[in-house]
Amino acid sequence: MNTLKVKQSKWILTEEGTDPEIIRQNETLFALSNGHFGTRGSLEEINSPSKYSNSEATLVNAFYDSEPIEYGEWAYGYAKEHQTIIPVPNGKKITLKLDHEIFDLEAGKTTKHKRELDLKKGILKRTFTWENTQGHKIDVEIIRFVSYDHKELLAQKITVTPYNDNNELEIITELDDLKELGSRKKDTSKDPRVKEQGERRFHSERFKKDSVDLLHIETNHTKCHLIVGEKDKLKGFKSPIYNKNNSEKFIVKTKKGKPVVLERLVAYSNMFDEEDKQEEIAQKTATILNETSVLGFENLLEKHIKHMEKFWNMSDIEIEGNDELQVGLRFNLFHLHQAAGRDGKRNMSAKGLTGEGYEGHYFWDTEMYMLSFFLYTQPEIAKQLLTYRYTILEEARNRARIMSIDEGALFAWRTINGKEASPYYPAGTAQIHINGDIAHAIYTYIKVTGDKHFGMNEGLEILVETARFYANWGHYDEKREGAFVLNNVTGPDEYTAIVNNNYYTNLMAKHNFKYAIEMVEATLESNEERGKDVLERINFKHPELENWKNAQKKMFLPYDEEQGLTMQDDSFFHKEVWDLKHTPKEKFPLLLHYHPLTIYRYQVNKQADTILAQFIFSHAFSHDQKVRDYNYYESVTTHDSSLSRSVFGMMASELGFMQKAYTYFMDTALMDLSDLQSNTRDGVHAANMGGTWMSMVYGFGGLRLIGDRLNFNPRLPKEWQAVTFKVTFRGRIIKVSIKKEKTEYKLIEGEPLVINHFNEERQLK
Ligand code: BGC
Repeated sequence: MNTLKVKQSKWILTEEGTDPEIIRQNETLFALSNGHFGTRGSLEEINSPSKYSNSEATLVNAFYDSEPIEYGEWAYGYAKEHQTIIPVPNGKKITLKLDHEIFDLEAGKTTKHKRELDLKKGILKRTFTWENTQGHKIDVEIIRFVSYDHKELLAQKITVTPYNDNNELEIITELDDLKELGSRKKDTSKDPRVKEQGERRFHSERFKKDSVDLLHIETNHTKCHLIVGEKDKLKGFKSPIYNKNNSEKFIVKTKKGKPVVLERLVAYSNMFDEEDKQEEIAQKTATILNETSVLGFENLLEKHIKHMEKFWNMSDIEIEGNDELQVGLRFNLFHLHQAAGRDGKRNMSAKGLTGEGYEGHYFWDTEMYMLSFFLYTQPEIAKQLLTYRYTILEEARNRARIMSIDEGALFAWRTINGKEASPYYPAGTAQIHINGDIAHAIYTYIKVTGDKHFGMNEGLEILVETARFYANWGHYDEKREGAFVLNNVTGPDEYTAIVNNNYYTNLMAKHNFKYAIEMVEATLESNEERGKDVLERINFKHPELENWKNAQKKMFLPYDEEQGLTMQDDSFFHKEVWDLKHTPKEKFPLLLHYHPLTIYRYQVNKQADTILAQFIFSHAFSHDQKVRDYNYYESVTTHDSSLSRSVFGMMASELGFMQKAYTYFMDTALMDLSDLQSNTRDGVHAANMGGTWMSMVYGFGGLRLIGDRLNFNPRLPKEWQAVTFKVTFRGRIIKVSIKKEKTEYKLIEGEPLVINHFNEERQLK
């Protein structure tokens, strides 16, 4: 970890000084969000790229614009439109003036500059002393948080304490509606993980409601609407308010030592549903601002801290033996919590709401990396994330038709609105494993929560439609003794594309069949009418069951008998092995330095693929098999994707390679704090953050859900004294404390339960 950049306590990340490089980096790390909207950790005085900012952005989940994708050469069925999350007006912009001199880090003299991200309270605090060129001084403290109690709300408190009497202090708050967007940097990088930016992609209109200034924003093409409003309150001083162009100006004559306090509330409400009326949302926004302004900053903060307490009480993981890691681990959990959409209409993007990287798109990352954390700590959020998939099921059906599959649904590889937005199909649409990933997540959700209602409604429908897709994509290959094969797909490893029988995909599809069969049979046998109605509505026919059973049984899973190795796909072992040892360091990640076809010709992996399959269904493989495969695939893997290390780490724990498990874990847990992937400026790596939680609970805790039972096989790295975490399972809360000499399981809430500890039954009462 680069400790020069971040000094830490067990709960607080501290940045000291005014080094522009560090401040720029922390723009991502210090982002605050609540799943509905987020705002980057930019300094108050900036609103466009500068020495101190890569890109200020306030992002509302799923608030995006689209435009046609321009292909040099088009082919049928290509994704048609980009979907790009777009920054909305910056509600953090504050200008401070002392005797007409404007504060910024380049003017006068700034000392004791410090920013602290307090993970426990969920706030960002900035303090400094500024002396203007005339030698007049002020102490400044700015606290900001994004509320969970009022999801629209960004709350800020600015406290200025003057050193002298009779200076003129001006505080100007601004709702910057990006009119000057030309000044935003046009990103000219060729990195496919970054989006192009630079244009203002909405128009805005100002109006008033209940004496609150509001801004109505409408995106150019998608016609997404947003109402933004602001309410300020100056405390202890009287000042006329100068109101102009979305900005308010307060001017006071200072009294030595007497703080000037400004409370500032900004609200972002979007109209998500067509039936949402602008008039009503505007009214709602004005009401929120008026009511919360009466409550006041301190009361709002108190409520916010209570929310955070509740969150940490269930979701914290404690490590004894490494304080630096402790805060790093909490940082990951904090950002996961911040990133998830909670209303069933929005999901969780690959960067959360911390940056514009990957355009705010949702990927398989949610189901296979982030969901576990919510499933076992806040299952109601897990449900909302899966419900989002149900809202885009119709688009997934359309996508299947475009792919000439007459039945079933294919979920988009990357999307916001459900339509495919990946312009590069070999590493996009070809990743049909996303169907199996979603099916696996749904099945696991039902098992972990016992939520039959979801299981027999949304869950059932998705399981059937995804299974139908696989049944139609694949066929029985006579040359392979009638095995069921899935050709021309790309597995998780994006350095190998368009292959036949990717092991991971086939195994996920096999389980997709199994889950669909189980849920359909349970529905047909039950007295519940709900599920039967669903089957009737989607025109389920009995012979489908037989077909799935057959395909499941005959699913082809490639294996090399000679080497005793699981094959990543039919062709993998026929390729030359990429010489990783002699590839210069500066040539990584390979995707930025080699043509895809160069990469595809070799045995080289971007990320865990076969090893991920073996991790998910680990009880189905022998120890020796897993060891052989692990050693082999590790030797050809670059970890150029941030989704890789956590999986290798968890498998290392399972196989007893504790040193490896520890090393992978350290890289995983500190990935963004140490900028391991060199692109944290574009946003955090949310999937890896989910991987961090999984590494602790599935990796070192050894948790596996087998059948209906939780199994723990805990293993502690020698570097730590103890690890403690909680999981919830079917209404219970279980506290697990792993120590060197023993592991304790304590039932904190709920009915007695039987679990397994290393294959030994334990009764929890
Ligand atoms: C990975 C994908 C992932 C995407 C978004 C890519 O680099 O290869 O597996 O879904 O990033 O995180």
